[in-house]
Amino acid sequence: MYALAFALLCLCTLTTIVNALGGGRWPIGIGMNKYVCSFLGGAVININQTETTREVDKLPALRTASAEWNVPWIKAPDNASLSDSDKRHSLAQWVGIMGDDCDNVNWYPFLQAGTVVEIGENEVTTASAWVEWFPAGPHFIPKENFTVSPNDKISVAVEVYTRISGHIYMKNLRTDQEYVAEVKADSPDDPKFHICLGPGVAQFFQEWVIAKDRADLPIFNNVTFTNMTAIDRRGEYHDLGSGTEDYWTMIDAGRQIGIPQGINEDSFVVYSPMGKTWSPHENIQC
Ligand SMILES: *[C@@H]1O[C@H](CO)[C@@H](O)[C@H](O)[C@H]1NC(C)=O
Ligand SMILES: *[C@@H]1O[C@H](CO)[C@@H](O)[C@H](O)[C@H]1NC(C)=O
Ligand SMILES: *[C@@H]1O[C@H](CO)[C@@H](O)[C@H](O)[C@H]1NC(C)=O
Ligand SMILES: *[C@@H]1O[C@H](CO)[C@@H](O)[C@H](O)[C@H]1NC(C)=O
Ligand SMILES: *[C@@H]1O[C@H](CO)[C@@H](O)[C@H](O)[C@H]1NC(C)=O
Repeated sequence: MYALAFALLCLCTLTTIVNALGGGRWPIGIGMNKYVCSFLGGAVININQTETTREVDKLPALRTASAEWNVPWIKAPDNASLSDSDKRHSLAQWVGIMGDDCDNVNWYPFLQAGTVVEIGENEVTTASAWVEWFPAGPHFIPKENFTVSPNDKISVAVEVYTRISGHIYMKNLRTDQEYVAEVKADSPDDPKFHICLGPGVAQFFQEWVIAKDRADLPIFNNVTFTNMTAIDRRGEYHDLGSGTEDYWTMIDAGRQIGIPQGINEDSFVVYSPMGKTWSPHENIQC
């Protein structure tokens, strides 16, 4: 969710290409593949572009990506010193829409929205919501407009109207508070912001925001994405059962951080090996 992530996104993409594809693009349309990334764990649904949208309308293949998830808590390893702000990790949960056929194969603009949790010095996890039109940085949603807390269940839909405009819908299913916004690429005239045409990729990720120290790993309770949908320009629905899905495992320097596991065609869980059996909501009062 931060611009800095882009450097790693490149590495991540190239790694998967070397390992799995031998091609020159973000992995697309293969289905059932497993990828590894040092800061992203989750799933994507790939969909083919149609001739009409590609040649006539010049619109991205995907129109909508949506899902619900629980906002997790983070805990620090026993020996981590949270007095050092560099060790207070944050994790973002988001859905996004990307096009695959970019002229620059190392540059993939996308619209994403979701939540982010951070652990404080006092070991308390706080949460907020944000929207980002990559490559711009995130726009945090003021608490007055949309409030989220760990353990809340959130519904988020990201919609792309054109290559530079779209729509965000969020709902906190605990409080029923909604957030609705029309969004535009931060620099709409700059081609670097134009969502690419060609095949579309619906993204469902937990991201380890990478700006900080990576010696200690964040531990989180299970994040379960449910009711996932990807709707293409023609109005057709795609999900994890379409045979075009890929799972991404978060592994940094040989250490597993976030492992995705399919549940059914519209849900999967991302778990942390050290937080797999942790159920913080049984102990914490909100
Ligand atoms: C996408 O379209 C191409 C060409 O029609 C086809 O070969 C391929 O199987 C399709 N891929 C998916 C994931 O539907
Ligand atoms: C905490 O322990 C882990 C595992 O033994 C180690 O890798 C890490 O460097 C330690 N961190 C600190 C801050 O001592
Ligand atoms: C938050 O709500 C205020 C008052 O309704 C509105 O003026 C502002 O634009 C909203 N901010 C965002 C980021 O949506
Ligand atoms: C699933 O999501 C759709 C669209 O976001 C919504 O209309 C529907 O109520 C949701 N279903 C469940 C079971 O949450
Ligand atoms: C978290 O997910 C993993 C993988 O599906 C599962 O084995 C584990 O029981 C889950 N943990 C909790 C607390 O539900």
